[in-house]
Amino acid sequence: MPYYIRALGFRRQITVLIFVLFLTELARARPESALSARHVQRPGDLRESYNFIIVGGGTAGLALADRLTESKKHTVLVVEYGQFANTSDPSTIGQRMSMIPSVPQTKLQNRVTNINVGYCVGGSSAINGMAVMRGSKRDYDIWVELGNKGSTWTWKGLLPYFKKAIHFVPPDLVLAADFNITYDLDVWGQYRDTRVYASYPGGLNSSISLDIVRDGHAGTHGVFYYPLSVDPKTRDRSYSRTGHWDGLNRPNYDIITGSRVNKILFDKQNTATGVQFVPTNGSSSFPTTLKAKKEVILSAGAIHTPQILHLSGIGPASLLRKAKITVRVDLPGVGANFQDHPIGPRVTFTYGTQPRLEPINSTLPQSEGKGQGLVAFLNLRTVVPKSFPAIARRYASQSPSAYLPANTAREVIGGYKAQQAILAREMADPNSKTAFLNHIIPALAPGGQPINLHITSRGTVSINTTHPDSAEPVIDYRALSNPTDMDVMLSFISFLRRFWLEGELGRKYRVTEVSPGANVTGEEDLKEFTRGGYSPQGWHPVGTAAKMRRELGGVVDDELRVYGTKRLRIVDASIMPLLIGGTTQLRP
Ligand SMILES: Cc1cc2nc3c(=O)[nH]c(=O)nc-3n(C[C@H](O)[C@H](O)[C@H](O)COP(=O)(O)OP(=O)(O)OC[C@H]3O[C@@H](n4cnc5c(N)ncnc54)[C@H](O)[C@@H]3O)c2cc1C
Ligand SMILES: *[C@@H]1O[C@H](CO)[C@@H](O)[C@H](O)[C@H]1NC(C)=O
Ligand SMILES: *[C@@H]1O[C@H](CO)[C@@H](O)[C@H](O)[C@H]1NC(C)=O
Ligand SMILES: *[C@@H]1O[C@H](CO)[C@@H](O)[C@H](O)[C@H]1NC(C)=O
Ligand SMILES: *[C@@H]1O[C@H](CO)[C@@H](O)[C@H](O)[C@H]1NC(C)=O
Ligand SMILES: *[C@@H]1O[C@H](CO)[C@@H](O)[C@H](O)[C@H]1NC(C)=O
Ligand SMILES: *[C@@H]1O[C@H](CO)[C@@H](O)[C@H](O)[C@H]1NC(C)=O
Ligand SMILES: *[C@@H]1O[C@H](CO)[C@@H](O)[C@H](O)[C@H]1NC(C)=O
Repeated sequence: MPYYIRALGFRRQITVLIFVLFLTELARARPESALSARHVQRPGDLRESYNFIIVGGGTAGLALADRLTESKKHTVLVVEYGQFANTSDPSTIGQRMSMIPSVPQTKLQNRVTNINVGYCVGGSSAINGMAVMRGSKRDYDIWVELGNKGSTWTWKGLLPYFKKAIHFVPPDLVLAADFNITYDLDVWGQYRDTRVYASYPGGLNSSISLDIVRDGHAGTHGVFYYPLSVDPKTRDRSYSRTGHWDGLNRPNYDIITGSRVNKILFDKQNTATGVQFVPTNGSSSFPTTLKAKKEVILSAGAIHTPQILHLSGIGPASLLRKAKITVRVDLPGVGANFQDHPIGPRVTFTYGTQPRLEPINSTLPQSEGKGQGLVAFLNLRTVVPKSFPAIARRYASQSPSAYLPANTAREVIGGYKAQQAILAREMADPNSKTAFLNHIIPALAPGGQPINLHITSRGTVSINTTHPDSAEPVIDYRALSNPTDMDVMLSFISFLRRFWLEGELGRKYRVTEVSPGANVTGEEDLKEFTRGGYSPQGWHPVGTAAKMRRELGGVVDDELRVYGTKRLRIVDASIMPLLIGGTTQLRP
């Protein structure tokens, strides 16, 4: 039986389905693939030196190691903090993940957020929600405005790498026909040697018509089904370890686990010469040093890459001095510009007349993911057709430094000014191809939590100046520090109310509001409600070592080389200058 939502305020009227996932019985268990490239257990078993040393065996680090060892020309060592863990077993989540408490958030009633970080072989791709959603064309093209002259980091420039990164497996014909799941093979890769998959492992049932964009991964957002990074054969997590380590027979590819890099080594000309690391288990504080003949590449993720740079004397001079670290390169952007996708408060409704719906039974272990679904990615005009110009105007009129931390460096303010101009322009553009709202359309209970795709507040990730060598970094989201994020969140709440209450669905099933409740309409009450339910963590941390011009507070150039150094690059999520309207495991 078809269920419709008539979405109000969409440019085209979009009819979307409330869909149902059902359980397909699965052969779930799968033996762990045999290890093949060399897993080194003790520093004594390492080579004397390597051509490349990659710090962090996570999402990006293993992909890079795979590429660099393909030709057998180079020896590569990956130094990984965590261990190999069985991702098919949900009970290993504690071995795969660490939780780092944030600084209490002053605008959120001093709440602390525990930040989830992947700490194992595979990194965050071993713990993430497996959603595969790209940003829009516009999101990447915008990066060029912040990059160096001649930057090729555009949608067009990046597309060949997107295709190489993920092997797309279309939904089966029945599923595609029943749900009108459409896709555009021109924007996906299906290369035989790409072993990280995007597929539709769940079952969806019902027969309905959808007015969706052909493929939300083709650069134009809207409403669409997204696949998951799941292996279509095993129905198990498909991630950087299964795609870029398991089964590779490469004598030139080594990984050492249980090892925390705490310093990059340099010569007098700031040329990176190697790394220093200690055992994670604290069995010894005696560090191992190892030489990299060609390059050191940091892939420790957006939380730990800035920490390692700080410990190596690269970062804001004032912070380093406080920690009594000799300044090697005064690079104020390291750890600044921190962004994540904040998740708004739960806005929920209830059906007066219950539609007949199957329970969602995930085909994956409970803690691992919820199955693929339907998402709406909408620009600000679609969200609030009347008030979007006013929100954009208020934002554009801010002084760029007004809501940044006190004593923010001149370059970082300049970079924010450039970002502010871009974001204000996209907010104001009635035809903007940049999505601001992501609403995951749930099946069983109407409503949900809206996600802000283009946050205006900027946080910081800094070393702990009293315990630089031993403590986790100090992470401050500075949630809602910029009032525009509150304006945007309130606009999302008004959208959800319009979407769920005033459409055909609302009438047909006599939908009424549960939370915050129909009586909560005043601006102050809505703000209070938002502060109470706002999560600054959307699990997409980026921006802490941004690829921007140096005079804008950038940390790396277009070749991902760290300014002021030689033979040192960063290849991970920290280089994204501005968040995309999408998820962040997918990138070149
Ligand atoms: C809970 C969660 C859910 C998510 N859901 C999704 C989703 O559904 N879809 C999506 O696209 N994205 C999702 N993401 C985001 C995505 O997974 C990340 O953006 C991406 O994996 C980051 O990759 P990375 O290479 O930058 O870092 P990581 O994959 O985190 O890799 C960093 C690696 O460095 C290691 N390391 C850290 N410090 C050191 C050190 N000092 N020495 C040695 N090694 C070190 C870590 O152990 C880790 O293995 C999610 C993230 C999380 C945390
Ligand atoms: C990994 O976990 C799964 C699910 O619990 C289990 O069936 C499998 O045997 C485990 N593999 C190994 C190598 O322990
Ligand atoms: C979905 O499929 C199940 C099993 O095939 C069936 O029992 C159920 O009625 C279907 N639900 C809908 C909404 O079509
Ligand atoms: C299926 O989706 C496409 C857009 O991708 C749309 O043009 C078409 O009308 C839809 N078909 C049905 C039966 O809803
Ligand atoms: C700690 O790690 C080292 C190697 O990194 C290993 O040799 C040692 O056995 C480990 N100790 C414990 C107690 O696990
Ligand atoms: C879904 O799971 C629940 C509880 O695990 C179970 O009772 C129910 O039968 C399952 N539904 C389907 C359609 O398999
Ligand atoms: C720094 O680390 C110490 C020791 O772990 C801890 O007590 C202190 O709270 C940390 N400082 C900050 C600002 O987090
Ligand atoms: C709304 O109504 C609920 C339940 O009656 C009440 O608890 C709440 O305080 C009211 N909120 C406002 C803002 O009036």
